[in-house]
Amino acid sequence: MRKSEKKESERLLDARRESGDNATDITLRPKDLKEYVGQDALKKNLSVFIGAAKKREECLDHVLLYGPPGLGKTTLAYVIANEMGGNIRVVNGPSVEKSGDLAAILCDLEPGDILFIDEIHRLPRQVEEVLYGAMEDFQLSIMINRDGAAKSLNMALPPFTLVGATTRAGDLSSPLRARFGISAKIDFYNEEEIGKIIERTSKVLGMPIDKKAVELLAKRSRGTPRIANRIFKRVRDFASFEGLNRIDVDLANRALEALKIDDLGLDDVDIKYLKAIIERFNGGPVGLESIASSIGEEVTNLEDVYEPYLLMIGLINRTPRGREATAKAYDHLKITHDWSLF
Ligand SMILES: Nc1ncnc2c1ncn2[C@@H]1O[C@H](COP(=O)(O)OP(=O)(O)O)[C@@H](O)[C@H]1O
Ligand SMILES: [Mg+2]
Repeated sequence: MRKSEKKESERLLDARRESGDNATDITLRPKDLKEYVGQDALKKNLSVFIGAAKKREECLDHVLLYGPPGLGKTTLAYVIANEMGGNIRVVNGPSVEKSGDLAAILCDLEPGDILFIDEIHRLPRQVEEVLYGAMEDFQLSIMINRDGAAKSLNMALPPFTLVGATTRAGDLSSPLRARFGISAKIDFYNEEEIGKIIERTSKVLGMPIDKKAVELLAKRSRGTPRIANRIFKRVRDFASFEGLNRIDVDLANRALEALKIDDLGLDDVDIKYLKAIIERFNGGPVGLESIASSIGEEVTNLEDVYEPYLLMIGLINRTPRGREATAKAYDHLKITHDWSLF
């Protein structure tokens, strides 16, 4: 495979991993803050900032959204654009390869536009530098090579709001982080909030669901709206297949069993990860690289997608010496362990 082809395919894969959303997922996206479930403190603040910016007829300050995948960062970027009444332009960090690419995007903005950069931690450094001036005082300055001499080109940009999303806020350079006036962590949702999202999805997709079934699905959704919606759609398939026109707890139970989603919402990769720590590395502490190579998963994937939830529900600990499985993990996997030996 030629290098350029490999690059292209990597890009495609990235895009899929990043959004993974199809047309139904897009219809399921809440459109405004009122419809956006949970994240109450953040919504309250945002509505103040948005209201104030509108009153002053200014752009909203730049917003950084960070947190694990599937919690609603992209959705919130669209909600912000909608609340501000501006157009949204969407770009994916790693696909902006040259400063010129970003300059072209910036020059194309209209006053009041929202520029959404997903996976902003993956912008190449020299591209990122173009953003500094653009964010700070809506000035574009790039170096161009003319007749062998480097010249700097300056241009005024229309006022705009940058919304950046990332699963790894720690990977953002500090000059970039400092230029966001608003920075917000998106947290896992509680079962009640996930329940509301499931009820909303059930209405939008026209498949009624019993309260008990909502509670059951909410428990298995890892506090993550994208997973809640995905599970709902699969359970709906079981209902359609069996000719049922509503989801009850009995059907939900059978579907979850067939889908192999356990009672904490863990999937095959979580189980492999936990078993690796316990069985191959004696419960840890063990470095993430060793776990990743022993189960054939990528380090970043484990760190961004799997670990945040396992940490949140207390199945693992992160120590300076590596990852450890907790007593709760042993219990969950029904592996006995003599803690008195430690
Ligand atoms: N607060 C929310 N309320 C209702 N649905 C949500 C919410 N957040 C996310 N979703 C649903 O979950 C899906 C995934 O959210 P998304 O914004 O793509 O996550 P992220 O960008 O953080 O990976 C969306 O398609 C949307 O339907
Ligand atoms: Mg997203």
